[in-house]
Order: sequence, then structure tokens, then C-alpha cells
Amino acid sequence: MGNGSVADPPIMSVLTKHFLGSTGLQTAALGLGTVKWGRNEGLKHAPFALPDDATCLRLLDAAEAAGVNLLDVAPAYGIAEERLGRLLAGRRDQFLLFSKTGEIFEGGQSSWDFSAAHTRRSVEESLRRLQTDRLEAVLLHCPREDVSVIRDTAALEVLHSMKAAGLIRAVGISTMSLAGGLAAVPLCDLVMVAWNTGFHEQQPVVEAAAAAGKGILLKKVLASGDLSAGGAVPAGMKALDYRLRSALGLPGHPVVIAGTITPSHLEENLAAAAAGAWPEAD
Ligand SMILES: NC(=O)c1ccc[n+]([C@@H]2O[C@H](COP(=O)([O-])OP(=O)(O)OC[C@H]3O[C@@H](n4cnc5c(N)ncnc54)[C@H](OP(=O)(O)O)[C@@H]3O)[C@@H](O)[C@H]2O)c1
Repeated sequence: MGNGSVADPPIMSVLTKHFLGSTGLQTAALGLGTVKWGRNEGLKHAPFALPDDATCLRLLDAAEAAGVNLLDVAPAYGIAEERLGRLLAGRRDQFLLFSKTGEIFEGGQSSWDFSAAHTRRSVEESLRRLQTDRLEAVLLHCPREDVSVIRDTAALEVLHSMKAAGLIRAVGISTMSLAGGLAAVPLCDLVMVAWNTGFHEQQPVVEAAAAAGKGILLKKVLASGDLSAGGAVPAGMKALDYRLRSALGLPGHPVVIAGTITPSHLEENLAAAAAGAWPEAD
């Protein structure tokens, strides 16, 4: 206790920030995923109720205090964009907002539209819902047919033109396949791929992005919450630490986008990220 009347704040690690590829953006190694903040249908996660605003504010407060600045959201995440827009009032500049375009989730079903008109409208609607005049990144939210989205649709060109107009700081592609990830690297500023201790199929994308100076976001690092998936955990280590810290050892200073609606989970993830990459460099 300091002066005897006010409780000292908890000791908290503040995460180091690194440049995200060549975007000029600086991010902590842990980003906050918000799909469960806005949608609880059509997901791989165990059934859950949407969190209330107070819980989301607690998560934002804890994230900000620890130096987590990247919030990952999408129009397909139900009410997540609208909710973030409201909850970030007065503190929008403390965070980097990464949204997406292409996936539409309505009536419990996903559909995709990567036309020029939809892409423009989708980004404009994200700006409105998030109550902001620019997004730090917008990513193509690709379905399985990611190569044809990248090669055969107008969406990427539209995002680059919106970047040139100052509405978007960086253009990204969230892919599903190895071929899609490798096709994405030269065409955008950052890629988002799935990686975890039991799934390394897309690691060549991470390596190509690191070599090309592109930003790297990792999804599925916690196997959508099934910490028993992803191979044996080294003796003496907690599964969460092993899964999360292993991802931090990949090249290119990747950002792990871990989704959570549970404040105690965020604290665990922050502690694991603060401990740094595992195994530690010599
Ligand atoms: N196509 C795309 O672009 C795409 C696809 C998938 C995901 N994403 C993004 O990535 C984010 C992460 O989603 P993901 O599916 O890849 O999931 P993930 O990060 O692998 O796992 C998230 C799940 O792990 C649980 N969890 C988090 N911290 C935990 C902890 N310390 N201990 C135990 N469980 C924990 C969460 O439950 P609690 O909520 O209870 O903590 C949640 O159910 C999403 O929110 C979204 O922003 C993008």
C-alpha cells in the first residue's frame, strides 16, 4: 500500500511494441480478437453467451494498461464493430483498429461479396459503426477459395485505392490456404494466417512475409480455446504458455490475435506474451 488510503495498482507487465512489417504501425505481440464480443452463432468455439458492455470495457482497460493496442474486428462479427465504436468513445486513438471486408454474416449464415461496390460500402460502414474516420488496416476476409478472391476480384484494388485516399493505413489479407497465403504476401502490407503448435501448414507464409518485410497476424493460436489440442506440452510448462509463446518465436515479430471474452483469460494471455518467445533465444 502506498499512502495507506489508496490501493496500489496491480503490478502489470507492459508489452514491448515492434513494427508491423513495413506498415509504420507499432504493435504489441498480443492483439485482441473480438469475434465473441459480437457473435455467438456459426463459430467453432464452445457455446457461450455474448459478454455485456461492462465486461468488454474491463477487457479494453486491461488490454490498454498492458500495452495491447491492436483490436481485430470484422463486419461479420455480429455487433462487435458497433459495440467497439461505442466503447471506444474518447479513447479511439489508444488503439489500432483492424477490420475486414468480404464476409457477410446474416441470419446465422456466411456469404461473401468481394465486388468493388460492396468493398467500398463495407469499409464505409465499418468506419461509421466504429465511429472513426480511418482504419489502421482492412483485410480481405477470405473463404476457402482465397486464391480466386485475391486474383479474380476487385476487392484488393479497391482497398489499395482507399489506402491511397487515407481511409486505410494498411491493406491485409486473411487467408485460409497455403496457396492463398503465398499469393497474398507480395500483394498487401500484412497477412493473417492460422498457426498453432499442432498446425504448421501455413508456416511458409509466415516465413515469406517475414522475408518480404510484411506484417504477420496469427489466428487460431489457441485452437479456438481447446488448449488440449496442438500436441504434447513440455514438462513443467502450462499449455497456454506453450501454445502462445511458441507462436511468438516465429520470424517477423508476428502478432498473436487471441480472442477472449473472459478477463482472467486475458490476464493469462498478457502474462504469457510478456514472458516472450519460447524457447528463449540463447
Ligand atoms: N478468418 C479470419 O480472419 C479469422 C478467423 C478466426 C479468427 N479470427 C480472429 O482471431 C481471433 C481469435 O479467434 P480464433 O478462433 O483464432 O481463436 P483462438 O485465439 O485460437 O481462441 C480463442 C478462444 O480461446 C479461448 N481462450 C482465450 N484465452 C484463453 C486462455 N487463457 N485460456 C483458455 N482459453 C482461452 C477463448 O475463450 P474465452 O473467450 O472464454 O477466453 C476463445 O474461445 C478472433 O476473435 C478474430 O478476431 C479471424
